[in-house]
Amino acid sequence: MDITVRRAEPGDFEGFCRIFSDESAQSGTLQLPMPTREHWRKRLSDTPEGHYIFVACAGDEIVGNAGLHPSAPTPRRAHALILGVAVPSPWQGRGVGKALVGTLVDFADRWLPVTRLELTVFTDNARAIALYRGFGFEVEGTHRQYALRDGRLADVLAMARLKAKAP
Ligand SMILES: CC(C)(COP(=O)(O)OP(=O)(O)OC[C@H]1O[C@@H](n2cnc3c(N)ncnc32)[C@H](O)[C@@H]1OP(=O)(O)O)[C@@H](O)C(=O)NCCC(=O)NCCS
Repeated sequence: MDITVRRAEPGDFEGFCRIFSDESAQSGTLQLPMPTREHWRKRLSDTPEGHYIFVACAGDEIVGNAGLHPSAPTPRRAHALILGVAVPSPWQGRGVGKALVGTLVDFADRWLPVTRLELTVFTDNARAIALYRGFGFEVEGTHRQYALRDGRLADVLAMARLKAKAP
């Protein structure tokens, strides 16, 4: 099925709640389990300036989401945005992540005054690491015991993509 990517709308909150109700999508990110519709309704209707949130759709179904977010509230880091992406398990490995990250990278490169995209990814998330490498992200280091994941502190890689060095 064809995947289309568009900007998220406030009315998409059910789709976000469903994605993060999926254990794999939730645990691979820094989201908590058992999200509420109200949390996502508020978050999508009060999105602050400088956050760029997208959804991937297969027909009417939201099958993934991704965003670019300010890295710190100082103009000295205005050139850097944090990237996040989540696809629920039934849709993983079917090109949705690639469509979302491709859209974010293109949007940042062509329309935003941003030269660095950065992210963290759990060290055992081979699919995500391969996806990011494909778009020119490089590993900058390891944060040890960075985040709780299912009862254990897990390591993450810090990855970044510099526009000047991008393929
Ligand atoms: C990680 C994630 C975003 C990838 O999206 P996806 O839709 O599953 O991946 P895609 O089908 O678009 O594949 C993208 C690339 O991943 C790589 N890939 C796919 N399946 C893979 C696998 N099983 N092992 C290793 N690499 C794999 C390939 O390089 C592929 O590119 P290619 O098709 O050109 O070869 C998605 O699986 C996901 O959301 N997982 C749970 C939440 C998460 O981990 N988010 C990332 C937080 S940093």
